[in-house]
Amino acid sequence: MKATDIMREEHRVIKRVLQCLTTAADQVEKGGTLDGGSARKMIEFLRGFADRCHHGKEEAQFFPLARQRGVGCAPGNIDILLAEHEQGRSHVRAMDESLAAAEKGDSQAKTRFCQHARQFVVLLSEHIHKEDDCLFPTADVALTAADQQALVRAFEQVEREEMGEGTHERLHALADELCAKWQVPIPPGSAHHSCCGHK
Ligand SMILES: [Fe+2]
Ligand SMILES: [Fe+2]
Repeated sequence: MKATDIMREEHRVIKRVLQCLTTAADQVEKGGTLDGGSARKMIEFLRGFADRCHHGKEEAQFFPLARQRGVGCAPGNIDILLAEHEQGRSHVRAMDESLAAAEKGDSQAKTRFCQHARQFVVLLSEHIHKEDDCLFPTADVALTAADQQALVRAFEQVEREEMGEGTHERLHALADELCAKWQVPIPPGSAHHSCCGHK
């Protein structure tokens, strides 16, 4: 599996959790309560998997090599992607800060949680679209097979040494649990991958 394929696969998992978040926000905006337990799990997944693991690998490994090889869809493209990672972090922080009051029924906190959830979903969906449809295809042309393999090895090291053994699998299981709760379908064969392609 190429490094870009690993990142594409991670995007699919992240997008399923974004669907969970959308459904949760729909429920609150229809006058329902915020399920604080599930919202905390979504935040845990977004911070642990989407940000620390996935964005971490992009920022420390993939983007620097892509820059070296001249990969990018427009001038400053990678700088924009990096700024979007930061914007995403601030939306997740705002969701986390409003969660305790929102789950107790505070209407301003519920509104704030949903506003940031919606903005985050739009931001990250468009971000993933840019990477999947522009950055990764240009990288697949510009990077050599040796580059891709070196990235895969670097990703494995990140998982082992920075995330800790088993963390990635635990976060995958968390995504599956969220999909089951919010009735987001998981395509067959896509569950329980480690991000480096091992089962
Ligand atoms: Fe990214
Ligand atoms: Fe990404």
